[in-house]
Amino acid sequence: MEFDNDHCIKMNDGNKIPAVGFGTYSPDAVQKSKCEEATKVAIEVGFRHIDGAFVYGTEEEVGRAIHEKIADGTVKREDIFYTGKLGSTFHRPELVRNCLEQSLKKLKFDYLDLFIIHIPVSLKPGPDLSPMDENGKLIFDIVDLRQTWEAMEACKDAGLVKSIGVSNFNRRQLEMILNKPGLKYKPVLNQVECHPYLNQGKLLAFCKSKDILLEAYSVLGSQRDKMWIDQSTPVLLEDPVLGAIARKYNQSPALVALRYQLQRGIVVLFKSFTRKRIEENLQVKQEGREKRMRDTPPCVQI
Ligand SMILES: NC(=O)c1ccc[n+]([C@@H]2O[C@H](COP(=O)([O-])OP(=O)(O)OC[C@H]3O[C@@H](n4cnc5c(N)ncnc54)[C@H](OP(=O)(O)O)[C@@H]3O)[C@@H](O)[C@H]2O)c1
Repeated sequence: MEFDNDHCIKMNDGNKIPAVGFGTYSPDAVQKSKCEEATKVAIEVGFRHIDGAFVYGTEEEVGRAIHEKIADGTVKREDIFYTGKLGSTFHRPELVRNCLEQSLKKLKFDYLDLFIIHIPVSLKPGPDLSPMDENGKLIFDIVDLRQTWEAMEACKDAGLVKSIGVSNFNRRQLEMILNKPGLKYKPVLNQVECHPYLNQGKLLAFCKSKDILLEAYSVLGSQRDKMWIDQSTPVLLEDPVLGAIARKYNQSPALVALRYQLQRGIVVLFKSFTRKRIEENLQVKQEGREKRMRDTPPCVQI
């Protein structure tokens, strides 16, 4: 696994991805304008990789933030690496491009850098992104994800996306795609929950063996949304071992948690809507870069 001087990693299709990305998921209770503001801050301080999704409902705000930073000369479109995700209600192959085009329209982009299947669980198509029955249970759809993948490949062939990948796939689901007869493009990466409490060691080894990058989310222990997280579970950034390592190296626990993944060859995402923390998290890039330049410029094996 190699990082270059821009702290990017080459994917199996030849395109490069910045190793640290800024996440834009925010719970419904948080004003979307905060996401827009934070995205601008992230670009201002130096992040170039933005992780979004159709279902986050923030693509208009994120798109506005990016265009503002293009308009004021901070970046060009080609400097930004934007990931979008296929919603679960759009898994039927004839709906895949529709979801992508809706994202492109909201973002006011003519292409995405990366488009990934968000979750390997299909839901009933329709306007409701979480379709429920009268008992409050999700209504699933039956879709062969290999056909969904072929529609993703067609989006790449149409020039609407540069790279395609998956998220929340286990080994069996990845193998299903990899063993598909007539596979045109392998997934470039698999975006999964990954942190010291769930280090995904086996999945990482499998992905490496297939030249698929692992991309980690909830690296800082997530936003601990009450809807998803049992509030009695330990808080990652308060973990005593992480704290001890942070003290030893004079770093914050967040920087240790981020660096841990980079050193394993994993692309990391983080979310913060706080300027000070966004700036703090940037240090993981700078420290890595300085160390790399000191040790073995221009690249280092990790
Ligand atoms: N593919 C998927 O299914 C999936 C699922 C979940 C997430 N994701 C992606 O991954 C991104 C990040 O994951 P996540 O949202 O679960 O959150 P995360 O990055 O693990 O944690 C975010 C929390 O950590 C806090 N934080 C950030 N930097 C910090 C620092 N230096 N010190 C202390 N606290 C800090 C943030 O607070 P403040 O905002 O208050 O600063 C935020 O509440 C998402 O936004 C999304 O783009 C993808």
